[in-house]
Amino acid sequence: MALINEHYLNLPGSYLFSEIARKVREFSAAHPEISLIRLGIGDVTRPLVPAVVTALHKAVDEQAKSAGFRGYGPEQGYDFLRQAAADDWFKGLGIDADEIFVSDGAKCDLGNFQELFDAGARVALTDPVYPVYADSNVMAGRATAQGPDGRFGGLIYLPSGFAQGFSPEPPKERADLIYLCSPNNPTGAALSREALARWVDYARAEESVIFFDAAYEGFIRTPGVPRSIYEIPGAREVAVEFRSYSKTAGFTGLRCGLAVVPKTVHGRNAAGGKVPLRDLWLRRQTTKYNGCPYIVQRAAEAAHSPEGKAQTAACVQVYLDNAGVIRQAFMGLGLETAGGTDAPYVWVRLPEGARSWDFFDLLLSRAGIVGTPGLGFGPSGEGCFRLTGFGDPAATREAAERLAKLKL
Ligand code: MLT
Repeated sequence: MALINEHYLNLPGSYLFSEIARKVREFSAAHPEISLIRLGIGDVTRPLVPAVVTALHKAVDEQAKSAGFRGYGPEQGYDFLRQAAADDWFKGLGIDADEIFVSDGAKCDLGNFQELFDAGARVALTDPVYPVYADSNVMAGRATAQGPDGRFGGLIYLPSGFAQGFSPEPPKERADLIYLCSPNNPTGAALSREALARWVDYARAEESVIFFDAAYEGFIRTPGVPRSIYEIPGAREVAVEFRSYSKTAGFTGLRCGLAVVPKTVHGRNAAGGKVPLRDLWLRRQTTKYNGCPYIVQRAAEAAHSPEGKAQTAACVQVYLDNAGVIRQAFMGLGLETAGGTDAPYVWVRLPEGARSWDFFDLLLSRAGIVGTPGLGFGPSGEGCFRLTGFGDPAATREAAERLAKLKL
């Protein structure tokens, strides 16, 4: 028998959202009479907007004719989408189209990008955190199994919950790789310009690389909150940014995202020489990935058109309104909340002593609402809970009514 990658055995038995799905399936089977409202995983519910649907139809029709048919595309994405993203999301920020790599989503890119670094690289991540950052580094052997405190050994945890105002400070020790997500999943908090500038300064001083997850950029409403890390001077030398069409343009099923790898971001080889990460990522993607489908890239391009932008912004507003309804409902229960104003996620501090998986069970059994226990996002998430604004608006209002009837 072949030896396995032992590092996988350091992971919890299942991925957070798979575990939740299993629990919900079992509950549904035992209680078919309860109509569930699913506000757990951040999956969109609005249909694709007309500009995107029109582009999809057109691209499918092109594929039906010899003249328009396309086989393999460029692994790094078609120029039309790379340019559309550069002109829209990164306008005025000095990002060239050839620094943009189109993919099938930010989750894959965020999980894969760490492959470019040594197994001994020191990784810093916020706590609570999107589990993909931690789990992918465990798989790569940069961390050992979770200890009794719920932390994987070897990672640098940066607490960033209610107590820290959701804004992690750079660590005293040196980190090679730093994961930042703003607006944040799961807390819904967005980093200020000053906070982000502190991170860029740290990364420049320590020669670290920041993995900046901006999947929720389209939800930012607070004036002045940076939408891209490249708004911060000096970030082009130290940061890679990840974007997604999933949450803003409804592509959780279609699948499209992108990674921005400026030519000016480097790692170093064992001899101390500088190596551009862009070249390594190009090599990795051309070897292991065959490109996002043409029709999906045409659909993503349409999301950057004036009509596409107006239509997707209207969807985002629906989700933000939902988040407002959820926030109000929890505040009505006397609970402290965060997020929901620049992000689709509402993060709730549970009553003193309440445990997040217990609250998951209570909400499911007494209100038929599926949420996400804070502990699933890391040890600092214990005592907290996440609901998403991605539900259907009527179902979200119904959830708020059910919450109002809960006696905590
Ligand atoms: C979440 O609920 O945290 C997200 O849906 C996860 C993801 O985008 O992969």
